[in-house]
Amino acid sequence: MIRQPLHHAGPTFSRIVAGAWRWHVVSGETISRLIHAALDAGITSFDHADIYGDHSNEEHFGAVIRKDSSIRNRMELITKCGIKFPSKKRPSAWIKHYDTSKQHIVWSVENSLQMLGTDRIDLLLIHRADPLLNPNEVAEAFTQLKDAGKVLHFGVSNFMPSQFRMLQRYLSFPLVTNQIEISLLKVDPLFNGELDFLMEMGVAPMAWSPLGGGKVLPVDERMLFNKAAKYNLTYSQMLLAWLLRHPSQIFPIIGTTQPDRIKEASKSINAELDLQDWFEMLQWVTGKEVP
Ligand SMILES: NC(=O)c1ccc[n+]([C@@H]2O[C@H](COP(=O)([O-])OP(=O)(O)OC[C@H]3O[C@@H](n4cnc5c(N)ncnc54)[C@H](OP(=O)(O)O)[C@@H]3O)[C@@H](O)[C@H]2O)c1
Repeated sequence: MIRQPLHHAGPTFSRIVAGAWRWHVVSGETISRLIHAALDAGITSFDHADIYGDHSNEEHFGAVIRKDSSIRNRMELITKCGIKFPSKKRPSAWIKHYDTSKQHIVWSVENSLQMLGTDRIDLLLIHRADPLLNPNEVAEAFTQLKDAGKVLHFGVSNFMPSQFRMLQRYLSFPLVTNQIEISLLKVDPLFNGELDFLMEMGVAPMAWSPLGGGKVLPVDERMLFNKAAKYNLTYSQMLLAWLLRHPSQIFPIIGTTQPDRIKEASKSINAELDLQDWFEMLQWVTGKEVP
């Protein structure tokens, strides 16, 4: 597995990241198997959020670390904060909303550290662009957490370029990623300036739902199976290889709950798609030739 920095200031992550959003549907034993399948395949970076699994997934993942703390130094942990919704675990929220106050960011990180059974978060992301985001408060929270060694790097998720640029202006250290939805089922960032902007900033994007969340492509799937066969790849490897071909150095975050599929995804890293195959796959989903 290739390891690469997200930004020249760091951090270095595995080019394919394992996402834990869906992991509440499996047992603690399977979570342990998923973690070890990833580590064995060289996928050392794991993506979380405070809210995943109704605020339970970090804790289940942390149980595996608490059982064998030696694995913590073999992995990088990403988590997010800023979304609140009504839940028995968070009784004060009565409507879904965002909270990017200094108090909430610091509280959320302290909680994630405890849940994950670790003394540091490698990368903290603001989960969604908050219309009430106060950049001075976010900067204060980030600086406090960085100075305390509790969070090593910071980034954002689902931010537009203007929102990214605005927050960056208030920080004395770089935002190292924007985690956005990109896949063959969601190609807008290739054309709406989002990826251009990140390349201009020297920041690698992370792609959530790189397989479109498992949804079926709006094309005759036999075409994709045939193309995958040409490269000796599986269907899902082909979708990942399509993302990996982009010069912005996309880090796909795979969301499978099956250990074997983690291993399968890791093998897409060596595929090199031909230019015309890449464009043909694009044409399948846009339904037209490039102009
Ligand atoms: N920042 C954000 O706002 C945001 C939003 C959403 C997600 N995320 C992150 O992105 C990660 C990935 O999202 P995602 O789960 O939607 O990603 P995905 O990899 O596009 O989709 C995973 C889904 O596809 C299914 N699938 C079907 N065939 C598959 C195959 N051959 N190989 C692998 N999976 C297959 C999986 O089922 P099985 O489990 O049965 O394999 C699973 O339900 C999440 O875990 C989370 O960390 C971030």
